[in-house]
Amino acid sequence: MQRGKRSASYETSPNIALVKYWGVRDPARALPYNSSLSVTLDRLRTRTRVEFSAELDRDTLTLNGRPAAPAATAAVSALLDRVRNAARTTDRARVVSRNNFPTASGLASSASGFAALAGAATAAAGLRFSPQRLSQLARFGSGSACRSIFGGFVEWRAGRRPDGRDCYARPLYPARHWPQLVDVVALVAGAPEKSVRSAVAMQATITTSPEYARRLRELPRRLAGIRRAIGRRDAEALFPLVMEECDSFRLVCETTRPSLDYLTAASREVLAAVRALNAEAGRPVAAYTHDAGAHVHVFTLEREARRVRERLRAIAGVERTLLLHAGAGGRRV
Ligand code: DP6
Repeated sequence: MQRGKRSASYETSPNIALVKYWGVRDPARALPYNSSLSVTLDRLRTRTRVEFSAELDRDTLTLNGRPAAPAATAAVSALLDRVRNAARTTDRARVVSRNNFPTASGLASSASGFAALAGAATAAAGLRFSPQRLSQLARFGSGSACRSIFGGFVEWRAGRRPDGRDCYARPLYPARHWPQLVDVVALVAGAPEKSVRSAVAMQATITTSPEYARRLRELPRRLAGIRRAIGRRDAEALFPLVMEECDSFRLVCETTRPSLDYLTAASREVLAAVRALNAEAGRPVAAYTHDAGAHVHVFTLEREARRVRERLRAIAGVERTLLLHAGAGGRRV
């Protein structure tokens, strides 16, 4: 890498998993047990600038205008070390990152954050990584970050190889494939901040949940069904599978010892409201899903969005709703 100051900026969005990544088979290589599938969201963006400089004596991270906590800076440094190794430099970096949505709000800022960091840091270091290779780098920051390199509908293939060469994210369909699909996000009041990192919590699930093995057995069928339903834009096939997957994820969390409970009473009311909407319609008109957080994403079709939104807004404890679609992936800015 050349000397002096070299900088680059990269922007991308969080994603919501329809098939959840939960469990690491090789922590050193960040290889998951199962493949996962997500939708990269529009409107929510993270923009990160990385500047390498020989004059710095340590990495610094500014998050939304403020110096970041030491743990966050250390996680960023760890990913930068991989970039430095690849670029054969020891220069430290100044990282400035900004989200246009609340950080650590349960809106997957770590996914867009580490994807944006991987994109900006490699470009600043003069490395020309393919998107596939970028996704392989980003997952070392946060597993789900590997999917935020791409826009639209994205699959993270777990792969089988012990060296991880066949483990990467790839785009399935671009955002424009299904513009009628909407994600009504119910932001619940008092959503607690994550007390345990997902990367740690999921390993507790593997060792203590009696349900985990069954989940892994069921997943290939469910993933194939979800992939097929998206391909055909078949909401009535997709929605029950998305809820089944979310229920499976919640079950393995709840049966982890100590139990992992990410939801609030309001989140549970959102799940109940979606079940009620489907029962009233006599067919699946919406599907809920949530990650390791209290906010609930409700997928529905454009024509139902207003009704769904009104229903969710009526729940005490739902602070507000966002109307999102599938959006673009990462790009240099
Ligand atoms: C439930 O990728 O956020 O959102 O490495 O702790 O950042 P960390 O893990 P992370 O775990 C994501 C778990 C999930 C499911 C998913 O997004 O696939």
